[in-house]
Amino acid sequence: MSRALLIAALFAACDEKDVDTGQDSGGLCADVPLVNYDNFGEGFINHLCQGCHASTTPNRYGAPEDTTFDTVEEVWAWQERILARAAADAPTMPPAGGTSEDDRTRLRWWLECAEPGT
Ligand code: HEC
Repeated sequence: MSRALLIAALFAACDEKDVDTGQDSGGLCADVPLVNYDNFGEGFINHLCQGCHASTTPNRYGAPEDTTFDTVEEVWAWQERILARAAADAPTMPPAGGTSEDDRTRLRWWLECAEPGT
């Protein structure tokens, strides 16, 4: 094989690898079950967050007035912060804990993979 061909072949191999990697990085949401507000989110948020975050809660325990998760739209407006606080490996919401690893995985499948707003 000529040097030029060898180099061309190496580049082609690299390109292929990049394409594979690209597919992998989108792979977080590949083959995950459909998780959305209806089949998971509403129950999760009401049970674990709304005690302090609902607009109607009698005691917010210090939760900021604007962090209300009464509707699916409000939840998605807080998508990034909810993921950061409640879906991390060492979650800081709810403040006293209470979510299982399974809950947190589903939370990621929902807010990272579902159609936004659902
Ligand atoms: C026991 C009351 C309580 C519960 C239950 C609770 N929170 Fe909070 N939340 C707070 C308080 C107090 C703050 C303000 C202090 C802070 O940010 O740590 C807050 C702040 C927040 C914020 C805004 C701050 C930021 O980092 O952007 C988000 C988002 C949030 N909580 C999400 C959640 C989610 C999601 C849940 C349910 C999984 C939840 N919280 C459950 C009390 C609570």
